[in-house]
Amino acid sequence: MYPQHEFNILHIAQRLRKLETDRKSFDEVIDQIRASDGVLWGFPLYILHVHGNYKRFIELVFERGVQEAFKDKYTAAISTSIHFFDHTAHNYIHAICDDLEMRFVDSFAPHMGDLMNEEGRQALVTFGRQFLEAIQTQVPTQRQFLPLKTNSLPYQPVLPPNPVSTQGKKIVILHDGKQEDNNLTKMVRRCRGAFSGSVEVINIYDIDIKSSCIGCLKCGSNNVCAFTGKDSYIEFYRSTVMTADVLVYAGAMVDRFLSARWKIFFDRIFFNTHTPVLVGKQIALVVSGPLSQEPNLMEVFRGFYEFQGANLVGAVSDEADCLASGDSAELDRLLDQLMARAVLYAHNGYRRPQTFLGIGGMKIFRDEMFGPLRMIFPADHRAYQKSGLYKTFPQANFSERMRNIFGMPVLSIPSIRKGFDKVLKTQMVMPFQQVVAKAKPANIAEPNSAEKG
Ligand SMILES: Cc1cc2nc3c(=O)[nH]c(=O)nc-3n(C[C@H](O)[C@H](O)[C@H](O)COP(=O)(O)O)c2cc1C
Repeated sequence: MYPQHEFNILHIAQRLRKLETDRKSFDEVIDQIRASDGVLWGFPLYILHVHGNYKRFIELVFERGVQEAFKDKYTAAISTSIHFFDHTAHNYIHAICDDLEMRFVDSFAPHMGDLMNEEGRQALVTFGRQFLEAIQTQVPTQRQFLPLKTNSLPYQPVLPPNPVSTQGKKIVILHDGKQEDNNLTKMVRRCRGAFSGSVEVINIYDIDIKSSCIGCLKCGSNNVCAFTGKDSYIEFYRSTVMTADVLVYAGAMVDRFLSARWKIFFDRIFFNTHTPVLVGKQIALVVSGPLSQEPNLMEVFRGFYEFQGANLVGAVSDEADCLASGDSAELDRLLDQLMARAVLYAHNGYRRPQTFLGIGGMKIFRDEMFGPLRMIFPADHRAYQKSGLYKTFPQANFSERMRNIFGMPVLSIPSIRKGFDKVLKTQMVMPFQQVVAKAKPANIAEPNSAEKG
């Protein structure tokens, strides 16, 4: 649409292996960025975020100290998706642009089908024009995400361990700790020591993952990944993660997320396509890094685990500023109680109600699998039929429909509506009062020792 401008397309995710291993190829990409007037970040949504390889490229920019090539460049971001957490991926890229001191103009996040209609095409053309004009006229831009400040405590576990029984539950701790003696590995050790029974501790670097997800969609028909038998990820995920009762995810923040290794791990989960496979599991997050300054990261985790039907018990980080006393003993206690709470919740089968993130997300998938994506993902379609998800369509609720069909005309008579409005609230509250009147004392499992402490 704008032939007067030159567009160079750089496939940073697809060519990641080359860019990572061949410095010359990487430098050529960076040189092109340095020579450009503007940078348009383009990506498909992958598991509530950008693809793991895309993230790894961003890590390389910081690791290799070439941020200056991006500084002061005008920039914008464009994605395609089915709108499942497109905002979190865009928040991430925008924040990265701010970290690179770029001049962020705007983002554009259409549904992957939007270009098939005139309105969608027009919107894209207008977005493009605004971006190009912003570069030409050097519009002022404002930073939206402040730089992250590292404030990790020099963690040294001090309190004697107070292990709790695993109560026969399967506990799995997954982490990406590289060095023996950093905060993450110490926190992982503390978590392990918080249980008296057997616990599996797995470093995700030790899992044989040959490739990141290549988006081939072979899994769509029956959840069989193209890499089945070629590496051990699928077998590992099925036998270790999907069978656990409590899953502890421990990672150090790398830029505005966890590491690209973690992202690749999450992307490969896609062999289950859009069917929740962690239903009823208790999830604990243990993070080394400025988690409280990056709410987008928690939004990704909340959304992901809510959609999965799991229960996010809580998150603990090593941020000194977030500890009332700012010392290691407090972090010990926080980790101990997070682990104890996870077992207790597993024992009680506790799952807190989903929020907008899980409910809204699931409705997006339900509508897509019922309609446009059914042929691509028949395995999801079958799973949704089996789980009764399609019965949550409002039109499937017969009694509600009848009430609306016959009740609405009656209530549209002004005198009846007036009387209805008067009793509306008492009528709404009445069924709850009846439930409360019948309630009996709760019968909940006793908290174990660490929980009491
Ligand atoms: C592994 C994988 C993960 C995906 N994760 C998401 C997601 O979290 N949210 C979303 O809206 N779409 C997700 N999608 C859909 C892709 O974003 C969509 O296929 C892509 O935008 C299509 O791009 P294209 O139109 O350029 O081919 C995912 C697709 C794959 C293959």
